[in-house]
Amino acid sequence: MTVNGKCFEAVFGRPVKVLAEAPGRVNLIGEHTDYNGGYVLPTAIPQKTRVEMAPRDDGLIQIATMNVRGGAQLSYRAGEESRRGLWLDYVQGVTAVLRGRGVAVPGFDARIESTVPLGSGLSSSASLLVALARALRAMLGLSIDDVEIARIAHAAEHDFVGAPVGTMDQMAASLADESTALLIDTRTLAFERIPLPAEAELLVVNSGVTHQHASGDYKARRAECERAAAALGVPQLRDVDEVAEQRIASLPAPLDRRARHVVTENARVLAAVAALRAGDLGRLGELFNASHRSMRDDFEVSVPAVDDLVESAQAQPDVFGARLTGGGFGGSIVALVKRGCAARVGRAVVEAYARVPNRRATVLVGEPVS
Ligand code: GLA
Repeated sequence: MTVNGKCFEAVFGRPVKVLAEAPGRVNLIGEHTDYNGGYVLPTAIPQKTRVEMAPRDDGLIQIATMNVRGGAQLSYRAGEESRRGLWLDYVQGVTAVLRGRGVAVPGFDARIESTVPLGSGLSSSASLLVALARALRAMLGLSIDDVEIARIAHAAEHDFVGAPVGTMDQMAASLADESTALLIDTRTLAFERIPLPAEAELLVVNSGVTHQHASGDYKARRAECERAAAALGVPQLRDVDEVAEQRIASLPAPLDRRARHVVTENARVLAAVAALRAGDLGRLGELFNASHRSMRDDFEVSVPAVDDLVESAQAQPDVFGARLTGGGFGGSIVALVKRGCAARVGRAVVEAYARVPNRRATVLVGEPVS
């Protein structure tokens, strides 16, 4: 059945009962630190996932999504969740985790629509998971706070879908807003909102590069971090500070570089928070640039096309700094730009990027380039 463009009533033949939304995120700084127990600093983007829902009394769960070509509808029975390697796994993950926590999840109909671009490093999956968990919380009247919603979304993605991700994206989708940066201590999930500066705006540009082996490489980096922590005799790399430079340097390659990235990146998050509080945009920009170098050279999660995009943004006037954002191996860059200048900078970097054949970048946050 084609569901594309159809409203909830047209798809399911009855009215919506609850509506919930959750945003995508862009990480300002603190990359690959979350699964090392460290700090991250994401913020919400305007793009969101919206879930409309109504309960059923026959135990059937029917999901219509507008986000696969032509729209799609799939179903399963409450309590019979099983991984299928499809987008439906994210939905099944949330109901399976809630059930595991003792919630009697009934059948329901849900319609999903998202403006968060898929596969661009802006956490479309976390926004879907959090929007769904919020819709179920509202429909079932559950008393679950927003950190718990993030934990449920993380368990759905990590344990049910099987993606070995950290907790940043789900925390951001659940707790971040667009006017503040969310400082999260991923070890405790304690968080603090730091106002974003009025004099700057964010520009997010997608490189259009998606790495086929991204999830395998992500897993490999995570394993390297665990080996580095074990070799240093600490539970997680979070427990190593920069003064341990000598000890980090004595690790076998590439664990030395991997550990150096995590330890210096963690310190950069705290320095970025201090720069934000002091209104020192120059310093914040330098930290963005240093973070990119570290991801490129030490953590090795960048690719040449993304490096070009970052360098072309950094070379523009009115840009304080720019870096690869998200897991890497392609994806998007984030630049900190003087307010009012993001549209011009966006046009310039998209144009320069397109000078190489078969390269097409897209502005995702900032003014779209037509
Ligand atoms: C992906 C993961 C996050 C985090 C980032 C890298 O977005 O989902 O948990 O590890 O990569 O910072």
